[in-house]
Amino acid sequence: MTEAISLTVNGRSYELAIPPDTPLLTVLRNDLELNGPKYGCGLGECGACSVLIDGMAARACVLPVSVAVGHEILTLEGLASEGRLDPVQSAFIEAQAAQCGYCLNGMIISVRALLNHTPRPSSAQLQSALEYNLCRCGTHVEILEAANRAVA
Ligand code: FES
Repeated sequence: MTEAISLTVNGRSYELAIPPDTPLLTVLRNDLELNGPKYGCGLGECGACSVLIDGMAARACVLPVSVAVGHEILTLEGLASEGRLDPVQSAFIEAQAAQCGYCLNGMIISVRALLNHTPRPSSAQLQSALEYNLCRCGTHVEILEAANRAVA
């Protein structure tokens, strides 16, 4: 059954008529056409679908959209502002951290979430923040280099 759902995503307000238990990821990708967050496992385990909710990383594939009402949702698309990439995005480009690139949404969101509350994290903290983000290509060395660049 559909309900009126109000969402704030990347600073914009949206009014939607959708079932409240629809996964947030489905709404972002299918209704709002924001394809930064990716569908990986659909089980909350890989991190590809990550978004920021009130500045903290959340897995949008397992989060009912109703839970996001009243919160600020930021997707990869919303990280850049005034035509400038977020420093984390720039660091990932500079480090050429992508192989297939599918996981990078989650990697970037997780690093941004850490930096939001810990501006100068240690390498160990960065590694810990990325511990549950999976990269099937195995480019973890480049991803960690990018994460460290984002802090430097
Ligand atoms: Fe959401 Fe894997 S797609 S955690």
